[in-house]
Amino acid sequence: MAEVVLIFGSTTDNTEMLSEHVVAGLERRGALVTVKNVTEASVDELADYDAIVFGCPTYGEGDLQDDFVDFHEAMDGMSLEGEKAAVFGPGDSEGYPDSFCKAVDILEETLKRCGAEIVAEGFKVDGEVEPAFEDAEAWGLKVAKLMQK
Ligand SMILES: Cc1cc2nc3c(=O)[nH]c(=O)nc-3n(C[C@H](O)[C@H](O)[C@H](O)COP(=O)(O)O)c2cc1C
Repeated sequence: MAEVVLIFGSTTDNTEMLSEHVVAGLERRGALVTVKNVTEASVDELADYDAIVFGCPTYGEGDLQDDFVDFHEAMDGMSLEGEKAAVFGPGDSEGYPDSFCKAVDILEETLKRCGAEIVAEGFKVDGEVEPAFEDAEAWGLKVAKLMQK
């Protein structure tokens, strides 16, 4: 059974709410999921899991959510060879058309540089997250399937 760590950052709770649904999808496929707020996570533990899922909203003009900044810096440069990974996050294309969900792209790029395999396209949620709960669960299920390959 795949052991997955889902690490999220969330200032106004949208990513945290999405995380619950992504977890439900992962668990439907039998994954053993550990969920952590990035404020309680350390990069050193990433290697303890078969797969990594990050949930991060975009702030500023295309920046990672504040709590993710130090974690991201610590991760950049480490080896995550053999790890499978996927990233999701909410954003707002109306308010920030030029930097919509940029945090998802940033984290994917860094994971790839570290040697991790991105198994599924990043899941980007535009605007209100409630209507996307079902899609979040479906994405989690898809990610869990792809992580088993
Ligand atoms: C000050 C500020 C800056 C933002 N910048 C961006 C941005 O550059 N790109 C984007 O897609 N969304 C941006 N957003 C929208 C947030 O990513 C969105 O509200 C998200 O759902 C917040 O997630 P959270 O509740 O988990 O913190 C911004 C929101 C605020 C308040």
